[in-house]
Amino acid sequence: MAFDIDMIKKVYSQMPERVEKAREVVGKPLTLSEKILYSHLWEKTPSKKLNRGKDYVDFAPDRIACQDATAQMALLQFMQAGKENVAVPTTVHCDHLIQAKQGAVKDLKRANDTSSEVFDFLESVSSKYGIGFWKPGAGIIHQVVLENYAFPGGMMIGTDSHTVNAGGLGMVAIGVGGADAVDVMAGMPWELKFPKLIGVKLTGAPKGWTAAKDVILKVAQILTVKGGTGCIVEYFGEGAKNLSCTGKGTICNMGAEIGATTSTFGYDDSMERFLRATDRNEIADEANKIREHLTGDAEVYDNPEEYFDQVIEIDLNTLMPHLNGPFTPDLATPVGELGAKAKENGWPIKVDWGLIGSCTNSSYEDLTRAASIAKQAVDKKLIPKSDFGINPGSEQIRFTAERDGLLKVFEDLGATIFTNACGPCIGQWDRSDRKGDEKNTIVHSFNRNFSKRADGNPNTHAFVGSPEMVAAIAISGRLDFDPMNDTLINEDGEEVKLDPPQGIELPELGFAVENNGYLEPKEDGSSINVSVDPSSNRIQLLDPFDPWDGKNLTGAKLLIKAHGKCTTDHISMAGPWLKYRGHLDNISENCLIGAVNAFNMKTNFVKSQLDGKHDAVPKTQRAYKAEGIPTVVVGDHNYGEGSSREHAAMEPRHLGVRVVLVKSFARIHETNLKKQGMLGITFENESDYDLIQEDDTFNFVDLKDFAEGKPLTIEVVHADGSKDTFKANHTYNDTQIGWFKEGSALNMIKKHNKA
Ligand code: F3S
Repeated sequence: MAFDIDMIKKVYSQMPERVEKAREVVGKPLTLSEKILYSHLWEKTPSKKLNRGKDYVDFAPDRIACQDATAQMALLQFMQAGKENVAVPTTVHCDHLIQAKQGAVKDLKRANDTSSEVFDFLESVSSKYGIGFWKPGAGIIHQVVLENYAFPGGMMIGTDSHTVNAGGLGMVAIGVGGADAVDVMAGMPWELKFPKLIGVKLTGAPKGWTAAKDVILKVAQILTVKGGTGCIVEYFGEGAKNLSCTGKGTICNMGAEIGATTSTFGYDDSMERFLRATDRNEIADEANKIREHLTGDAEVYDNPEEYFDQVIEIDLNTLMPHLNGPFTPDLATPVGELGAKAKENGWPIKVDWGLIGSCTNSSYEDLTRAASIAKQAVDKKLIPKSDFGINPGSEQIRFTAERDGLLKVFEDLGATIFTNACGPCIGQWDRSDRKGDEKNTIVHSFNRNFSKRADGNPNTHAFVGSPEMVAAIAISGRLDFDPMNDTLINEDGEEVKLDPPQGIELPELGFAVENNGYLEPKEDGSSINVSVDPSSNRIQLLDPFDPWDGKNLTGAKLLIKAHGKCTTDHISMAGPWLKYRGHLDNISENCLIGAVNAFNMKTNFVKSQLDGKHDAVPKTQRAYKAEGIPTVVVGDHNYGEGSSREHAAMEPRHLGVRVVLVKSFARIHETNLKKQGMLGITFENESDYDLIQEDDTFNFVDLKDFAEGKPLTIEVVHADGSKDTFKANHTYNDTQIGWFKEGSALNMIKKHNKA
């Protein structure tokens, strides 16, 4: 059995009392989001009302899920924590490192050849530390989680931004960086700013061509890509009950595209049906016993304006199918209006590919709705004008879809069935039809459509829609095709019209699978030896960072004074560097290569104070490290915004940078720096940034007295011998100062384990 029923029973047994206590401290009825958050506090019983958008709160998540690209560094760090087992149920899913090219069998074999080292490493670490392991080809992390682990009222974190998909089964599920996941794996709390709440009231029921996907495409239009930042989006109303569980998953999944912390739905019959269909009767039975705690209080949904920070209402009866894009998921256009808009904007009308799948839309229901369109094309003698690619969400879905003849329908249409993996959704796509940067259009049922996302081509115009709409558009080969009103000409020259899609929520014969690709960890993994080839390019065991020597830091040289925006992408680029996510030394070759040097406005071109020459940032920094000279990075506002990837803190730390001094930090990056034992501080007076010159030497003259709430004094010695002295603030509390002293948060955990 993959899921942990004892853990779920424990959560449910505690929930009524904690919810009641939360109602008492909040002083009014509760939303579902509040019930889940308050019942997962690290302090267990809620003791005070928490301020939305203000208070930082420690939580105790029930589960963790990691995908292969992010799991590497997370597990490498966890191995340093000195624990025998993970503290909460955890799974690893191999889905990102499989390129889509020739179809599932060949592609999976190639991935197993090229990334076997990474997969073997993840498998052996998982087995050793009690982590469930889903092999390459087993499925996409979020579908596998929905089918096996998600449960109503639970809280999970995952090292992937679309972890939020599990909100479709009534969870509060949140994407985090690897370092956060490691804390929870090691038995520590997880901190989050208590979110604001957006309520979305759904009325009516989707009809004809309108799908669950269109709900989130519409919400994205209303809220835009930033509108959900710092918020949980909670869906409710009769309309919510008229959506399937996997449809709800689709909506929650794309909550990531509006920046939401997560999204969720209250427990209802559709969730019960899904739990039972996926062999989880026990969870459904337990959930039914505390049903009223697994949804918001009735008063909340009767008067949502009083309980949510913002309320949106969508009538599913009148909601039209949309396609969102290109280049941004919030640019929504009703399908019938897209032709005119495309012509106006010069978007290519001809559609080259229709891609169905990804963690967003690869459920059984999705495949049946799309297949019902594909079947009509075969029956009505329509020859598809675009290429088709399908990524089933899991082996269970693929096997069931094959048994029920769904895959055959797509194959009859000439579709390529790719591996049960991310594939084109993460740019793991070797497109056979195009080379270079030709302008072209594709439609897909994924979530993200940023420039270059699917195929690396900045001129690929990607539009996001429901699987059935993708199927219809791909058959027509035209972006201006409106299947609700337009006709197509078939092989015999006849005019034919596509009927609206027909979907099957859950397989009538039940789900089936021969080998789901899951590997249970060893009961006692202590004898497992995780071997990593020291000459490997992909995986490198971590050495603990050195502890602080307790002395003032003096003689530190300026590495770079970054000008303007310096995001985690500027500090640790993604793209081609993805393959080195498990090798700290190799990936450190991208350290700060995107940051703009304030003295010459160039990237990756800084002056070395060792020889006065300009060179690449990593090379320059490695030379300082070789000489044992500490360095300082200076930055502007919101330094480290963007992703939560811990590589952006680990790389400079690995290369010998000791201090990051900026006008202001993005919060997660600031925490990541602290966790890795760096000194992340801010100018007390922002204009002191202007004092920093290219040949400066830094002396931290009172670091010996580093204490909570006490600013640090910095003496900067310029090349001509003149000095400036100024103050820098910090937000380290006692625990975090402990991390700095020990060299990292992990060193601290390890020390406690030994004590
Ligand atoms: Fe994979 Fe794309 Fe989802 S990369 S996890 S299918 S968003």
